[in-house]
Formats: sequence, structure tokens, C-alpha cells
Amino acid sequence: MAGKTRSKQAGAPIRRIAINTGGGDAPGLNAVIRAVAACADNHGWECLGIRDGYNGLFKPDEYADGGLMRLTPDRVDGITHLGGTILGTTNVGNPIKYPTRLPDGSLVEQDRSDDLIQCFRDNRIDALVAVGGDGSLSIANHLAKKGLRAVGVPKTIDNDLDQTVVTFGFDTAVSFATECLDRLHSTAQSHRRVMVVEVMGRYAGWIALNAGISGNADAILIPEIPYDLASVAAKLREREGQGRKYAIVVVAEGAKAKGGDTSVIEKRVGAADRLGGAGEKVAAGLSALLTKRETRQVVLGHLLRGGSPTSFDRLISLRFGAAAVRALAEGHSGVMVALDPPTVRYVPLEKATNRMKTVPPNCDSVSTARELGISLGD
Ligand code: F6P
Repeated sequence: MAGKTRSKQAGAPIRRIAINTGGGDAPGLNAVIRAVAACADNHGWECLGIRDGYNGLFKPDEYADGGLMRLTPDRVDGITHLGGTILGTTNVGNPIKYPTRLPDGSLVEQDRSDDLIQCFRDNRIDALVAVGGDGSLSIANHLAKKGLRAVGVPKTIDNDLDQTVVTFGFDTAVSFATECLDRLHSTAQSHRRVMVVEVMGRYAGWIALNAGISGNADAILIPEIPYDLASVAAKLREREGQGRKYAIVVVAEGAKAKGGDTSVIEKRVGAADRLGGAGEKVAAGLSALLTKRETRQVVLGHLLRGGSPTSFDRLISLRFGAAAVRALAEGHSGVMVALDPPTVRYVPLEKATNRMKTVPPNCDSVSTARELGISLGD
């Protein structure tokens, strides 16, 4: 395993570690929890699971177990295949931008990371395994810089984390989206309709692109390539002329028209914007341009986050969890475990959270889509 000696710290021996899951859930979280708990036990370390992101530490009184679940090997046995997270998660209440109500009633963001570090000390927790996407891993990086031993595990169905070939959860989301597209083909064909399918992914088009190609879409609209609906409509007409009387259009939730904006349904304090409505816009636009075709819209949304992880996601989740414990045992902190086949290596959290990994508009998958006759909307 490639190690970054600069991330190594001399410190007191580890006796107790904690793991938390933050941000949107993703298939594979329980597999990571199992691997971390089992591998910690191999070292004789106690392993605690923090409930609901960091809430278990901030608000222990709200939980019957004081907000910390004891993760013994017995407790985590048989959870690898389960979706969701036994610890619970949240994508609000970022401790660095903690939503705090002022006496005048207004809501502001407050940095509560020092309070959080104190909670780790009070609970005699020597190290943290933080499982999350860019938001959660930026928090872990912040805590590591303040002296907490912390290792990150890259999770997100969006696959938008840099420095790792893939995040866990992505393969399950793409597999399910592809299955949905397969199912939509028959109904679209029977009714000769245009089916517009919106998928999650935030500002990255990985899910839309991979599922769209695998699921034989006619058009794939991703945030990285702003679209022109007239061009999409022309492509659908052309395909109709070639005998394809129905169409499947996959729209990433972050897709936007040339010169247009991302569709945001809610702006929040202490949490990321909520996206939504991109598919609806495309469906309305295509319906206006293709007046002879019936158009329907489907939003796959949170269905992509549910269910049992694929064997690929189970395996990388278990490998990531084991590697995170290995990293701590080797004295690393401030790193993220990352898939770099055939190995899992450690990369600085700073580097992994510095930029978002979006789809390069000239990558091989985009070229493949074009060569297969799929419109990218440009
Ligand atoms: O980051 C994962 C993700 O599922 C995004 O694809 C999506 O935009 C967001 O989370 C949805 O969040 P929520 O669960 O708050 O609706």
C-alpha cells in the first residue's frame, strides 16, 4: 500500500475509535461500518458509532444509548448487504457551519469544531473514521488540522470526489438507474412516447452518463455540457426518421441549458442547496418542440440511494473500511483511503476535497456516447 509518511503522527496509543456516517446515505455504508468495527477489534481497539453524523456527540441526551453505539463484532455481523446506515446520517448541521438561531430570530452559521473536538476528548475517543462525501470529508479535514486523528472513507452515489477512481455507492446507483431505463424502454415504445428521466448526481453527470450509455438512451444531458433543447429535438426527429418511434432522455439533476442556471428548489443555512426540477424543464421544453410526440417525466431521486449494495460496492466498502483502520494503525491522519486499482492508497484529505471531480467533456465515455449516436445536447 502506498503510504504518505507526511500524514504520519506520533501520538498516544489508540484504545478507542469512533466511526460516523455523514451526508446523504449510500449503499455500502453498513459494509464500511462492519469492516471498521471488525478490524478495530483485531487491534484490541474499542469501536463506537456516532449517531446521525455528529449529533450523537452534540446531543447525547436525545439518544437512549447516549448517542454512541458500541460496535462489537457481533453487533455488525450480517449487515454488509443492508442499504442505509445503522448509525443514521444527516446532511444538515455541519459542525463548521452549524445553524444557530440568534436572539433576533435570524439563523447564522457558526464554527463549532472546537466544541466537537472537546466532545471527542470527553468520550476518550482517540481517532475518527469519517465516512462521507465532499462535505463530510472537508469537516474531517478541518478536525484533523485541529489535532484529531482522522481518516476519511469516500462515499457518495454522485462519484464526484477527487483522488479516488470511484466512491462506494456509485455502482449501485448506476446499476439501478440502468435497470429503470431498461424498464422504461418497453412502455416508451408501446406508447411511442418521449420519456424524460431525471437522476441525482448534484453538479456531476457521472450517474446520468454511465446509466444513459448502459441503458441505451437517445440523449443524455449532464451539468458539464450545457444543452440546447432544439439540438436534442433535432436528434430525436432524426432517430424517429430512422425508425425509432420513442425516445429515452436522461437528465442529470444538475443539467442546465446553455446560458441557463442549475435548477435549485431550496437554499439552506448550514447545508448544500437542494437541486430539482431539471427533468421537468426538459420535458416541458421537448413537449413544446415536438408537438406530435407525447412526453412523460420520471424522477428516480432517492430510489438511487436505496437498496442493497452491488457486489462491487460491498467489496470496495469492505476494502475501504479495512484500509481506514490500517491507516490509523500505521499512524496516518488527515488522509482519505482511495481506490487506485489494484490497490487502495492514502491521499491527503486536503487534496481529495479541494476540487469536485466532474465529467471531463472530452472523456472516453462522452466520446463513446456520441459514437453510439446519443445526443449530449450540445
Ligand atoms: O449527494 C447525494 C445526493 O443524493 C445528491 O445526488 C442529491 O442532490 C442530494 O444528495 C439529495 O439530498 P437530500 O437527501 O437532502 O434530498
